[in-house]
Amino acid sequence: MEFKIGVIAGDGIGPEIVAEARKVLDRVGSVYGHTFHYEEILMGGCSIDATGVPLTEEAIAAAKASDAVLMGSIGGNTATSPWYQLPPDRRPEAGLLRLRKELNLFANLRPAYLYDELRAACPLRDEIIGDGFDMMIMRELTGGLYFGERRTEAVDGVMTATDTLTYSENEIRRIAKRGFDIARKRRKKVTSVDKANVLDSSRLWRKIVEEVAADYPDVAYEHMLVDNCAMQLVKDPKQFDVILTENMFGDILSDEASMVTGSIGMLSSASLNDTKFGLYEPSGGSAPDIAGKGIANPIATILSAAMLLRYSFDLDAEADAVEAAVKQVLKDGCRTIDIMPQEGSAGQPVTQVGTAQMGDLICSHIGA
Ligand code: IPM
Ligand code: MG
Repeated sequence: MEFKIGVIAGDGIGPEIVAEARKVLDRVGSVYGHTFHYEEILMGGCSIDATGVPLTEEAIAAAKASDAVLMGSIGGNTATSPWYQLPPDRRPEAGLLRLRKELNLFANLRPAYLYDELRAACPLRDEIIGDGFDMMIMRELTGGLYFGERRTEAVDGVMTATDTLTYSENEIRRIAKRGFDIARKRRKKVTSVDKANVLDSSRLWRKIVEEVAADYPDVAYEHMLVDNCAMQLVKDPKQFDVILTENMFGDILSDEASMVTGSIGMLSSASLNDTKFGLYEPSGGSAPDIAGKGIANPIATILSAAMLLRYSFDLDAEADAVEAAVKQVLKDGCRTIDIMPQEGSAGQPVTQVGTAQMGDLICSHIGA
């Protein structure tokens, strides 16, 4: 089959990690007989440098014309990069937020899974890890604080900044349904995370989630306050199957969840709308401190490409093959620097490899 993939390499380590994911997709293409056509799309700091804005109308049109978009990462060092001297709506992140909104990508799936081979990179104690954990964070992506009205103004001579957190029942219902649908295909448990002891938006969230839950009698659900969830993620991550939550809470909890899997360099993500289209990106950032050094972990991006094959192209066998190849390479003891075992930990001997070598090794296990 033939597919058109928009590619947003972006900034920092983005181009390096996307190059490896493309290598893997090409390998899948040649083994399984598919052709992937790539169209490079500018977004983020590189787009600011080239066009003056983080996302052009042409870039949005190119993304819309693709069957799916694969993305690396955008942004730079917020303390030193000139991009952050620009007004907020012209900075790199504004491009990503606009693209999410334009494409209506309201459902963000962030799987956090502990590979048995990476136990030694997990910062949690052995008895907490137990026989591992496997959760899916379902983050609402086009509402809440990220897209509410905001302003900074002088109020009675005092500088005052306001951000608004708004959710409609429709926005909550559609993401909740997605969360319960996914749970049905997993271990059938939803933990809906909110701050209903303080926020009106969370009280509505809870009410709508309960309504949706009534249609899924086979799925167990519970409510959890976000501060407690942050604690539970390090205390007992095994308890979670699907974590369903709003935009800001999901942003924070998914970084935390990634760290308990050993590294943010392992965490993939899919941002979906009501169609087969999706935007696939690693959950981590552009890591400007290590950009260009050839040491970044490409696995999150490669696993994002696997999600792309699965969710947008319905190529389950191909996605399985990519995921199995990643597992095999880890089993063989190959590690990028971020997932090297902690000093003094027991376990198999491992070898440190760079970004491109990791990509090559993963390719070598596809169709082998
Ligand atoms: C993420 C990132 C983005 C977000 C930034 C880059 C705007 O942190 O995808 O988690 O906050 O959503
Ligand atoms: Mg984030």
